[in-house]
Amino acid sequence: MIYKNVDIQETIDLINNHGKRVGILAFDLSKQLDLPDKYWFLNYIAGRWHDFGKIAIPFYILNKPTRLSIHECEIMKKHPTYSYALLNLCGFGMYVKKAILYHHEDYCGTGYPYGLAKENIPLSSRILRICDIYDALTEDRVYRDKLSYHMALSIMDKDCNNGKLDYHIYSVFKTMMRSRTVNTYSQIYRTGSW
Ligand SMILES: [Fe+2]
Repeated sequence: MIYKNVDIQETIDLINNHGKRVGILAFDLSKQLDLPDKYWFLNYIAGRWHDFGKIAIPFYILNKPTRLSIHECEIMKKHPTYSYALLNLCGFGMYVKKAILYHHEDYCGTGYPYGLAKENIPLSSRILRICDIYDALTEDRVYRDKLSYHMALSIMDKDCNNGKLDYHIYSVFKTMMRSRTVNTYSQIYRTGSW
């Protein structure tokens, strides 16, 4: 694989488009989970802005085509906290801010920034976690080509079996992705444009 040089505008576009797609998935998944409809939109907003804090991460770390060092990983792991702080400044509500702050927490407690587990992680963050992983796996990254739908789900199956994902939410997610007919915003999701 040939790694292309990515400029600042492209980096912002990648974060932006990833956020839009995660937001759309979070909206649809919230609907499939039978949450009250106000949460469909709130989870869309949370997905839309979950990685906003990456604009505070050094450019060379975001676009490093090889494995991050331990120190670089620690810096990268600060992005949920930065997202929270930025959205706080913008006046976002607590539901969305908490969803974003915990979007890298794993169901089994191995995630970051706080190592929360199970129901201690807000439902909205558990939804975002699944939508975020799926979209990250199925988009091109500087360090690898995008994976197919089947490949992504097979990796996520292993994550789920290892306790990393909320089993119930992931089951509903898989059913939703298989049906391919329920996505209110499926057209936007496919095109990646808003
Ligand atoms: Fe993230």
